[in-house]
Amino acid sequence: MWPGGPVLICAILVLAGCDGPQSVLAPGGEDAFVLANLFWFLLAGAVVLWCAMNGLMFYVTRINPRELSERGAQALILWGGIAFPTVVLAGLLFYALSIMPEQRAEGDGGLRVEVTGEQWWWRVAYWPEGADEPIISANEVRLPAGSRSEITLEADKVIHSFWVPSLGGKTDMIPGRTNRMSLAPTVPGLYRGQCAEYCGESHAKMAFTAEVLTPEDFAAWLDAEAGPAVPPDTALAREGRAAFFAEGCGACHAIRGTPAHGRVGPDLTHLASRATLAAGTLPMTGEALARWITAPESVKPGALMPGYDHLPPERIAAMAAYLEGLE
Ligand code: CUA
Repeated sequence: MWPGGPVLICAILVLAGCDGPQSVLAPGGEDAFVLANLFWFLLAGAVVLWCAMNGLMFYVTRINPRELSERGAQALILWGGIAFPTVVLAGLLFYALSIMPEQRAEGDGGLRVEVTGEQWWWRVAYWPEGADEPIISANEVRLPAGSRSEITLEADKVIHSFWVPSLGGKTDMIPGRTNRMSLAPTVPGLYRGQCAEYCGESHAKMAFTAEVLTPEDFAAWLDAEAGPAVPPDTALAREGRAAFFAEGCGACHAIRGTPAHGRVGPDLTHLASRATLAAGTLPMTGEALARWITAPESVKPGALMPGYDHLPPERIAAMAAYLEGLE
């Protein structure tokens, strides 16, 4: 078998997995397109070099095996070992440097999204142009397609890193410092972001959804997101709301339009409109909500949310029903 065969098969298998909502190779925005191009450019360069080297090896061992003169050997080292790699690596370096300013571009002055890395979730605040106060949400970032939004990044206790591979590069979130980046998504869709800096035992469970909407859909969504929570509409959900306040959940969580003003944990005003629960760890279902309230530690070790496994399951089911209605 041709020696490159297994390598090629592996490459095809590996690249076949590079699709989906969290892939650098499936770009959905301007910045990600630039980075994907960089990847393909480097890969093409590597393939050409690999083929050239194998061709050369084949030539000198099979086709024309002979001893080189000293002069010939020196010339080969000078041109093939010094000049050629210097030119190739310098070319790649200048290409990579040339795309760096684009990665630092300013937002277009419209939307600014402030994201804070917490103990293992994301605090998200939307600042539309001219807003006096932000619209608070958590664990998902929604952006309008076709404009460049400014993203400011902070962290509570330890370093995290904000990364939506399909939309752009990653930037660290550092306590006591505000970092910035911008994203210019172009393709509406649902993407996945992931914390890209080890931040403790549940680092791997610190994900979020990034949804790109058309400008009209985004405006409508932001309008709804800014509004208060919908009141519960079933007896069970009303019972759940009473339990939510009786158990003191409002000390940590905020639900706009209710007496819950806690700032410690994620804002729950429109919790059920998010695709996932516990920062990308569970699907947003009543069952998952009940599991999370009962034993968060079993889902996300080290999470600051206390478990309520001392409560009767019916009471937890009622609380889950209330939260499930917070669209
Ligand atoms: Cu946050 Cu890793």
